[in-house]
Amino acid sequence: MKEIDIQGMTPAHLPQVAELSVATEQVKFVGTMEELLVNIDDKLHPHVILDGNTVVGFFLIDTQYGHRYDFAHPEALGLRAFFIDHHHQGKGYAKRAVLALKAFLLSAYPGFDQIYLTVNCKNPAARHCYQQGGFIDTHELYLGGAAGPQHIMRMVL
Ligand SMILES: CC(C)(COP(=O)(O)OP(=O)(O)OC[C@H]1O[C@@H](n2cnc3c(N)ncnc32)[C@H](O)[C@@H]1OP(=O)(O)O)[C@@H](O)C(=O)NCCC(=O)NCCS
Repeated sequence: MKEIDIQGMTPAHLPQVAELSVATEQVKFVGTMEELLVNIDDKLHPHVILDGNTVVGFFLIDTQYGHRYDFAHPEALGLRAFFIDHHHQGKGYAKRAVLALKAFLLSAYPGFDQIYLTVNCKNPAARHCYQQGGFIDTHELYLGGAAGPQHIMRMVL
């Protein structure tokens, strides 16, 4: 199995990141790249998933997640907008990226000891990936999402 790498996004990644997309029926789960990039600020950090020099996926780490959502511990990180570009799906990249996430966060965000995410109940593939990577279903639902109820998942770092 080929190694993947996770890095904070830099301006050098932008040309490739701007070309990333998911399938039309998946847009409701993550939004478009344009929408994601305009929301980035000093609390919401973009990351890339790389195979060699090729950007195959993207996600955001939200350092304010615990303050934004009542269900999360106040000092928790949040994983948002995790996706693999549609050309690269089905090759094991998501599974490897989620498995690599814990070690990456321990090194990049040493002040945090847990991370949350929500995943749409109509997105069993993503839920399965997160479970494979060590996220645990809290068995609570978040009902505030635009695309319907979402499972709340958590991983201790
Ligand atoms: C969900 C997503 C990240 C999976 O990425 P991927 O790189 O294609 O997934 P992988 O190839 O690593 O597969 C990981 C596991 O999920 C399963 N899986 C992946 N896509 C699947 C699908 N469409 N249906 C069913 N299972 C699927 C694989 O079989 C594999 O399980 P296994 O190891 O038990 O065989 C990708 O489809 C995606 O980006 N979707 C759109 C955005 C999204 O929904 N993000 C989640 C927001 S919370």
